[in-house]
Amino acid sequence: MRLFLIGAGVIARTHAAAAAKLDEPVELHVADPAPAALESFRAAYPEAKTYGDAAEMLNKTPALDDDIVIVATPPFAHLDGVRLALGSGRHTLCEKPLAMNVAQAEEMERLAAEKGRLFGCCAVRYKGMLHNEAVKRVVASGALGDIYHVTFVNKWERSRAGIEYQPQSRWFLNRELSGGGIAMDWGPYDVATLVDVLSPASIDIVAAWAAKPETAVDPRDVLYDVEHHIGAYFTFRGGVGGGGPIAVHYERGTCTHGKEQFVAEIEGTRGAVRWTPYDSRQPVFLRTDRDGVVVEETVDPGERGPFTVMDLPLVHFSRRVRGLPSPANVNRRAVDHFRVVRALYDAAASGERRTISMTPEEV
Ligand SMILES: NC(=O)c1ccc[n+]([C@@H]2O[C@H](COP(=O)([O-])OP(=O)(O)OC[C@H]3O[C@@H](n4cnc5c(N)ncnc54)[C@H](O)[C@@H]3O)[C@@H](O)[C@H]2O)c1
Repeated sequence: MRLFLIGAGVIARTHAAAAAKLDEPVELHVADPAPAALESFRAAYPEAKTYGDAAEMLNKTPALDDDIVIVATPPFAHLDGVRLALGSGRHTLCEKPLAMNVAQAEEMERLAAEKGRLFGCCAVRYKGMLHNEAVKRVVASGALGDIYHVTFVNKWERSRAGIEYQPQSRWFLNRELSGGGIAMDWGPYDVATLVDVLSPASIDIVAAWAAKPETAVDPRDVLYDVEHHIGAYFTFRGGVGGGGPIAVHYERGTCTHGKEQFVAEIEGTRGAVRWTPYDSRQPVFLRTDRDGVVVEETVDPGERGPFTVMDLPLVHFSRRVRGLPSPANVNRRAVDHFRVVRALYDAAASGERRTISMTPEEV
């Protein structure tokens, strides 16, 4: 198989590492206009063929049926990369957030349909992890009864991309380049995880808010206009757990003056499950009632496989390209997920409710 990377930055190197773990040899190509990025990529992957221009890389040879392109640039360049990649007739996996806005995501979907190629988003990075699969098994078992409430809160005190995390990549802080802050950065994973576990047919955003907490080290030398704390009340409809509406309290932050919290809990009429979606080393707890007393047990997630979360986008997508079962979110499904992320901003700005219907998953 041949893998073509557009962008040779931090995340591109993780995709190259994933390619080396696939069960077939992968020929690696990478394009980036920044010579320093190409140089450090070459130092890690000397076998890679490198290019200063993505079009030159993709036009050099005709597409093969199982070629994959990964667009691994900052969000402002995702659409151009996807246009080039699909235009060259290759299956295309785009980093999260999929696009800058819904119109761009829909253009990507149209292009994929025209070209008859698969198009997916790396927002599935945490899908298929064993502890999340264990939660899905608990939900499917009926042990929780009718599910009515979910708490999904993940907030760090100081972990802003472009400041405390990866400070060299200042583009994260500029809305024109990143499309937004924490909702564009972590929101895609949160939506993918919540939808994976709860399978809603539609999502109402009942209320949403966004904020930019201030600190003494906020950069003054670059434009910094993105939010780092966002939250919403969702109603998930038509999903698992009895089919009734599920109220979801959602919060995500990389800067807060409140207390750092990581809580994921699904509550039903007969039980609750609590887990740490982004840390597979933490246990999954099932809480039920026996003779009027709370019983808490841990759920065995099973043996870990060889892949890390950084490997999973390519692992899932390459399986889908080969026609194998896979949790990759492709085509309309990838766009639906992104519509939920963008609708968070719309709901927060307008104070109005938003409803997004979800295309059923093809596995
Ligand atoms: N860094 C992370 O931990 C992480 C994790 C998951 C996803 N992502 C996503 O991956 C994407 C890239 O992030 P990153 O952290 O690797 O950024 P980065 O700043 O490390 O690298 C981005 C690279 O893209 C290159 N680039 C810009 N325009 C280009 C173009 N037109 N053609 C080819 N290359 C171009 C830049 O020169 C740079 O080398 C973003 O969408 C981000 O949200 C990053």
